[in-house]
Amino acid sequence: MANNRKAVIEDKDFEKEYSQKGAYHYRLKGFSLWWMDDNYKMLAGYCKKGTVVLDLACGDGRLYYYLKARGVKEIVGLDISLSAIKLAERLTKMRCMVGSMVDIKKIFAGRLFDIVICSASFQYLETEELRRTLNGINSILRKDGLLVFSYPNDIRITSPKIINFSEWKAILRESGFEVLEKRGICLYMPSFLVSVSSIPILSLVSYGIYQLYHFVSFFIANQSYHYVICSRKGREL
Ligand SMILES: C[S@@+](CC[C@H](N)C(=O)[O-])C[C@H]1O[C@@H](n2cnc3c(N)ncnc32)[C@H](O)[C@@H]1O
Repeated sequence: MANNRKAVIEDKDFEKEYSQKGAYHYRLKGFSLWWMDDNYKMLAGYCKKGTVVLDLACGDGRLYYYLKARGVKEIVGLDISLSAIKLAERLTKMRCMVGSMVDIKKIFAGRLFDIVICSASFQYLETEELRRTLNGINSILRKDGLLVFSYPNDIRITSPKIINFSEWKAILRESGFEVLEKRGICLYMPSFLVSVSSIPILSLVSYGIYQLYHFVSFFIANQSYHYVICSRKGREL
């Protein structure tokens, strides 16, 4: 497991990814991956009008427009990749910062957020980095503030098993959070569906199949492609 995780981290050159506009940039090519859209919709769905939100590992800022549609008052984005942040600055109106989420306690010292969101990014952290990040999030959240994040499911074949849901519950509890809800984003997708979804015409076909998957996965979170965990800060550390 540790080796697998290391491989995922070493595989990821975020600067290269964003500067060359790789897999994350379907939106820039005029269409988007529909399960990612559902991911953003679900995450943003926990945000109320007038709240202040931190988008951790914001990438090129795709979540921004979903948050705006919810009436969020202020959105701050943080990402370790300078290229990603340059894109986010160009594509959104959020305040963007370059830095590692591991250091958020220091980066946002003295600031408080209502909600911290992390979309599909905690899997890049080593265990100790994750603990430090969660403790940092605790320190910059208001009392009863929410930490909402999406995470690949451990049944995914293409990705290593990282942290399963019961491990998440324990880790979150240690960091002062209680889990309120877990929801599946999409059932595990056969790879052909994943491939065709990036081809505009074929994506219409796979979209229909996907909708069925999505409907079912809502009720069977354990079988989903990704899932969303919504947790509340229950205590200060
Ligand atoms: C799969 S992308 C997700 C981007 C965005 N959250 C989204 O859903 O569109 C992973 C992101 O995590 C960022 N990242 C990885 N490690 C990070 C860290 N330690 N601190 C901040 N950002 C990090 C990468 O630069 C990349 O933008």
